[in-house]
Amino acid sequence: MNKVSDIYILGIESSCDDTSIAVCRNNTVLSNVTASQKVHSLYGGVVPELASRAHQEHIVPVYQQALADANITLDDIDAIAYTHGPGLLGSLLVGCSFAKSLAMATGKKLIAINHMEAHILAHTAANNPDGNPEYPYLNLTVSGGHTQLVRVNNPSSFDLIGESIDDAAGEAFDKGAKTLGLPYPGGPHVDKVAKTGNPLAYKFPIAKVGEFEFSFSGIKTSLLYFLQKETKNDPDFISNNLPDICASYQHIIVESLLQKVEYTADALNLKTICLSGGVSANSYLNQAIRTLGTKKGWNVFIPPLSLCTDNGAMIALAGFQKHLQNEFSTIDASPKSRWKPGVSL
Ligand code: KG4
Ligand code: ZN
Repeated sequence: MNKVSDIYILGIESSCDDTSIAVCRNNTVLSNVTASQKVHSLYGGVVPELASRAHQEHIVPVYQQALADANITLDDIDAIAYTHGPGLLGSLLVGCSFAKSLAMATGKKLIAINHMEAHILAHTAANNPDGNPEYPYLNLTVSGGHTQLVRVNNPSSFDLIGESIDDAAGEAFDKGAKTLGLPYPGGPHVDKVAKTGNPLAYKFPIAKVGEFEFSFSGIKTSLLYFLQKETKNDPDFISNNLPDICASYQHIIVESLLQKVEYTADALNLKTICLSGGVSANSYLNQAIRTLGTKKGWNVFIPPLSLCTDNGAMIALAGFQKHLQNEFSTIDASPKSRWKPGVSL
């Protein structure tokens, strides 16, 4: 039985290469359906034009499956939340137009969501294995396009403390993996191969940047130079040492992330530390942040895998928070390719 006070949100995500739609009842995820786009693996990275076309093909079946899995109809939905930015403009336009069409056809409320805030609000889901963090907390958002340190004051107040000045951590994983001949997206492959390698086999440098900043483009270049040098002496160097190379490369990315998390947590005097975004699925990062957390007396929160990588549920969860604040949007706003967390529409 639906309670009168229950709020049902449809969440639509299309910012990059996953078409994902979910239904939440309050902060409970009822369905979360994702169609990934295999086509990009042929090119070793996301091709924006192909992404937009694939979103157009996937969005209706994914929407129908999301309603079916939640065992409800569109009539039961209170509001339609969608990713308004940041992301690839062509991809955003598909989800945004679909959301606006549904809102116009039904008269339902529309909620524009910041994708980076939604990654963080994955922590509000009911039944997360680590539970829900108390405010304020420090969030490290690590995805394919962004690496951000955010002080989360409450579900609608975010202070961006610092971010990467060049590549994102996920980009470093993906580009490094490409150099090693691993398939796209490379992050999960590096994670898997690294499990049997020695993280201290080879040393890569950590870039020196501002106190709350990251830089990952140099790590990728140092891997490239290292491999060029080693393969001159041994053409089979990569295949003979792949686990050690992956483990060492992964180690330096994770070390670089953790040094800044520790520094920022100390500087802001925060002891609740949360991870979000696709790279938070990384098993070495998971283990390392929990070990550091035990040493520092932190409470560490990592969402389940289904809420780490891009997904419609985090958009619906963010939509639920906005619904509680009566923050709705209109159909005349255009999606934004760039949009920092904490900045209003
Ligand atoms: O959050 P996300 O799904 O999409 C963006 O908003 O970008 O993050 C995708 C990124 C990709 O770079 C992917 O390689 C990385 O997350 N990723 C991982 C792992 N799983 C996904 N990186 C390292 N280890 C993993 N297990
Ligand atoms: Zn994302």
